[in-house]
Amino acid sequence: MMILVTGGAGFIGSNFVLDWLADPSAEGIINLDKLTYAGNLANLASLEHNPRHIFVQGDIGDQGLVKKLLAQYQPRAIVNFAAESHVDRSIHGPADFIQTNIMGTFNLLECAREHWNTLESDAKKQFRFHHVSTDEVYGSLSATDPAFTESNPYEPNSPYSASKAASDHLVRAWFHTYGFPVVTTNCSNNYGPYHFPEKLIPLVILNALNHKPLPIYGDGQQVRDWLYVGDHCSAIREVLAKGELGETYNIGGWNEKANLDVVKTICQILDQLKPRNDDKSYAKQITFVKDRPGHDRRYAIDACKIEKELGWRPAETFDTGIRKTVQWYLNNSQWIDGVVSGSYRDWLQKQYH
Ligand code: NAD
Ligand code: TYD
Repeated sequence: MMILVTGGAGFIGSNFVLDWLADPSAEGIINLDKLTYAGNLANLASLEHNPRHIFVQGDIGDQGLVKKLLAQYQPRAIVNFAAESHVDRSIHGPADFIQTNIMGTFNLLECAREHWNTLESDAKKQFRFHHVSTDEVYGSLSATDPAFTESNPYEPNSPYSASKAASDHLVRAWFHTYGFPVVTTNCSNNYGPYHFPEKLIPLVILNALNHKPLPIYGDGQQVRDWLYVGDHCSAIREVLAKGELGETYNIGGWNEKANLDVVKTICQILDQLKPRNDDKSYAKQITFVKDRPGHDRRYAIDACKIEKELGWRPAETFDTGIRKTVQWYLNNSQWIDGVVSGSYRDWLQKQYH
């Protein structure tokens, strides 16, 4: 038995693949990933000789390839992580987001539905399509609004969140129209090992260590609900195993933090673990820069449904998770050297000139 994971060389996908295969009784994985700038086989280096992991470089929008993989490996489930995922890049160039997040998901749904229709009754009953999405589809909260529940209206504000919202709608429609067996999870901001350093937390850790400015957009009072990636992976496993078909589950860390506080916390941990040569705090490197256009003020997840119905709660607090994360970056300079390539430097130049 196999499961098909898409986007399994990215940040969350690779954590999920490693986590899943750490259980010797779990099914093998076919990992379909296009290896965009965000996909990195170094994340999966420990699986190089593992026969339970089959890596295929390709696009979720490639109908011939997806059909072939489904026929060849007969996976009992698909977990769809593949996406363009960075809001700032979606502002500079939304086309790839429309192509992968909307058209790619559409293709995956259609190929999977065709495959599902050919299955015998038991296999058909077991089959699951798990779509991984984001809390950003719900839009922005004020400081006093209650956290997002699964019944919040969709109000996406960036090209990224609009494309994810569109993909969620397709997934929902495939359930209601065709009875296709889907579950969707909408999670908050993840952090942890293998996080590509264009996102706030890894960018700040690397910039701090490289004596560069720590860029805070606007006033730094935007709030995100931080979820340790290992907790996200355990939640997905729970939903895949026990989630109700056609349902959506919010996954959050119960860790609302303002960006400036996140950055100050990282500075404090680095001050302890790897003090600057001049013994001043890394907080000296904090620099306020121009705000992101359409910057959502606050995201917060109400994760009561998944706790009540499936018994899942995050294991990490922000304090434990962020300490582990900073330590991971300090221990993995080789991985960092691998991702800080020419194209990464071009992005920094474009975004922070
Ligand atoms: P990521 O950008 O690190 O990884 C995305 C992966 O998808 C990469 O390996 C990339 O090569 C691959 N990919 C891109 N286009 C593809 C295509 N057309 N076909 C096949 N593979 C393709 O993203 P991530 O942070 O790991 O996010 C994974 C999923 O979780 C995404 O769907 C994202 O929307 C969602 N999500 C992420 C966060 C977060 O905080 N990172 C929060 C909520 C939801
Ligand atoms: P990011 O990690 O890009 O995630 P998202 O936009 O999906 O929430 O950004 C997290 C928050 O940090 C967001 O409010 C934007 C802010 N931010 C900065 O202040 N400076 C930066 O250099 C980056 C990349 C993000």
